[in-house]
Amino acid sequence: MSIKYAETEQATGTTKYVGQAVDRVDGPAKTTGEARFAAEYPYPGLAYAAIVHATIPRGRLTAVDTAEARAVRGVIDVLTHENTRPMKPAPKVSFLDLSTLVAGTSVNYLATDEVLWNGQPIAVVVAETPETARYAASLVRPAYQELPAAVDLAAEQGNAVPQKGNLISEAEADKGDAPAALAAAPHSVDLTFTTPPHNHNAIEPHATTAVWDGDKLTVHEATQNITWTRKHLAQRFEVPEKNVRVLSPFVGGGFGGKGSVWAGTLLAVLAARATGRPVRLSLTREGVYHTVGGRTGSIQRVALGAGADGKLSAIIHTSVSRTGRSGGNGEPCTAGTRHLYAAPNIHLRQSTVQLDLLANTFMRAPGESIGTFALESAMDELSFELGLDPVELRLINEPDRDPVGGQRLAHRRLREAYALGAERFGWRERDPRPGSMRDGRWLVGMGVAAAYHPSMRMPANVTLRLGADGTVVVRSGLQEMGMGTATVLGQMAADELGVPLASVRVEYGDSDLPVAPGAGGSMQTASAAAGVQDAAAKLKRTLLGLVRRAPGSPLRGRKPDEVQARDGGLYAGAAGQTYAEILSAAGRDHVEVESKAGMLGFMVRTLRERRSLVRAATGAQFCEVRVDPDTMEVRVSRWTGVFDVGTVINARTAASQLRGGIVMGIGMALTEQTLIDRRDGRIMNASLSEYHVPVHADIPRIDIHCLDEPDSTMPMGLRGVGEVSITGAAAAVANAVRHATGKRVLDLPITLDKLL
Ligand code: MOS
Repeated sequence: MSIKYAETEQATGTTKYVGQAVDRVDGPAKTTGEARFAAEYPYPGLAYAAIVHATIPRGRLTAVDTAEARAVRGVIDVLTHENTRPMKPAPKVSFLDLSTLVAGTSVNYLATDEVLWNGQPIAVVVAETPETARYAASLVRPAYQELPAAVDLAAEQGNAVPQKGNLISEAEADKGDAPAALAAAPHSVDLTFTTPPHNHNAIEPHATTAVWDGDKLTVHEATQNITWTRKHLAQRFEVPEKNVRVLSPFVGGGFGGKGSVWAGTLLAVLAARATGRPVRLSLTREGVYHTVGGRTGSIQRVALGAGADGKLSAIIHTSVSRTGRSGGNGEPCTAGTRHLYAAPNIHLRQSTVQLDLLANTFMRAPGESIGTFALESAMDELSFELGLDPVELRLINEPDRDPVGGQRLAHRRLREAYALGAERFGWRERDPRPGSMRDGRWLVGMGVAAAYHPSMRMPANVTLRLGADGTVVVRSGLQEMGMGTATVLGQMAADELGVPLASVRVEYGDSDLPVAPGAGGSMQTASAAAGVQDAAAKLKRTLLGLVRRAPGSPLRGRKPDEVQARDGGLYAGAAGQTYAEILSAAGRDHVEVESKAGMLGFMVRTLRERRSLVRAATGAQFCEVRVDPDTMEVRVSRWTGVFDVGTVINARTAASQLRGGIVMGIGMALTEQTLIDRRDGRIMNASLSEYHVPVHADIPRIDIHCLDEPDSTMPMGLRGVGEVSITGAAAAVANAVRHATGKRVLDLPITLDKLL
């Protein structure tokens, strides 16, 4: 995808774009419908695929009767495990090849008679129209031999086993003797929280358009990770990586759900290979629930011990979450608890039980979002127990060094976030007595909670092409799922090179571009920033190399650090030349450089750094609710979020992302839950009419403020804004409800039946 910036974004030499509220460059294309999504690419002879889903949680297919489906006019083929050339199995997960993490499940679709969850694809109909494919899919008759299945987390929690940590996420911690300290503490809370499974509901359901040309494959795909998707498809379909091109210029929301390769993608490519036709497979909303993992439910115990002064003496946080028989990872529920509060005694454990459900997956701050619900609810309850203001309690326990590992905390500004948040929100008007505040008949409650999400980055390769006409092309295989990638890339490049934003063009969303990381873990922008900086430095060196032999150049003999990129050229003090002058003197119509970041060295440095430094985006969430005293209906009436995300690259897109996370947090608190039938593992509410996400009328004006202070340990000082704001959000709602009603709800979502 290639995007040109609007002419209205002219720079005037020293104007800096970083930090500005620059309009999204892809906004017009999206609002006018010009933007094309994965299911919108026309191809001659395009065929349409529809999935047949298993209706048992576990067992074997004994037969698949396709006769009736095949008889439908317009059906091209019905693919089953009995008639389809298999894909290669998914590679084993290895931290030496991170792309192996991208397999959504371990199932080799249409190559096995084994059924591992209710909803697993067991056949695919390919037809001339999508309607025909879906109708014929309803006529496929599978027969099963059923096996006993475990689908209920609460019932199976006794079978949980300790979760394994990995290179970037530890699963346990012990410091001092937390159980003894808890028992001895004069004040304590000991609470068990439960959170339900959640499912992804991106506005664009997953879709793939797959086209084979001999052994070359082109895939238009809604994905957060074009690079790993390409590699995975090359492995599964046994073609060289260079033969596979994944294009994903626009993604209608991902949130982790499009971070892996799921059945729909594989089956579209498989169906295209089997039929010799270009094939489109666009999942139904229900199909997304059946084939794309969501968030595990959780059972979490948080116990806190404190002295009368409010200082924590013990923190215990343990969790049970689930994986699927076909894969998934235990949710790192205690990840934030490791870093949030100082205490001499800390005990953290995560455990996992394997269920006969679809593999779970990354979802909107995996770990921290539901983990902070439990921790921050418990902290709030402790504040009532102590008779201390909940903001004060948090300030008292704000650590100077990492509470578990003792590392230095890079740039932690939570104190400032609380102070500013309390001021903006009007926290001082809160009467601490539960149920004491009213607005007419409505009970009013105010709640606060901490937000926490680690700041990470990955290597990103970036190409910069500078033309003699003053234009700049930035190329990097990054992805845009609506958060503003293309816009911020342009801003960063314009500032690094000192050129007007209008002369910068950005190319992304194409696996033929330089390799860059997926959009996940809130790390894409920091990764891109380092790549842009590297490439800009390289470009400067290349240009200084060009002027070395240019007789009249005032830049001759200058070293890179003596030269500044500004006003469309390079300058040493007042003396300098425009890029056009440099290139024309050298007889070049353009120069192009690529920054290449080595993965191995990067990983080694990152892991070494983790021993001495802990980095995170943090924030303070303030929520006001109104509760109807008769119906116990909860309305969120006000919100202030103050975040420390380091440098803000784009004030508009950053605020929008932070707001979006809070909206998700409000959904988590009040409405979202996937209901699973305990008898057969079937998802009972696989639609947006039954799975409730907040709508516009549920959301008040959300006041967002970023401290906007660079973190000197991160590229351009930025720490990532993607996920931090969903953390703490559900707890802020629960705490406000507690304040309004006196009731502590331990089980999400906080539906009115739990308050009556
Ligand atoms: Mo995310 S859950 O890092 O896409």
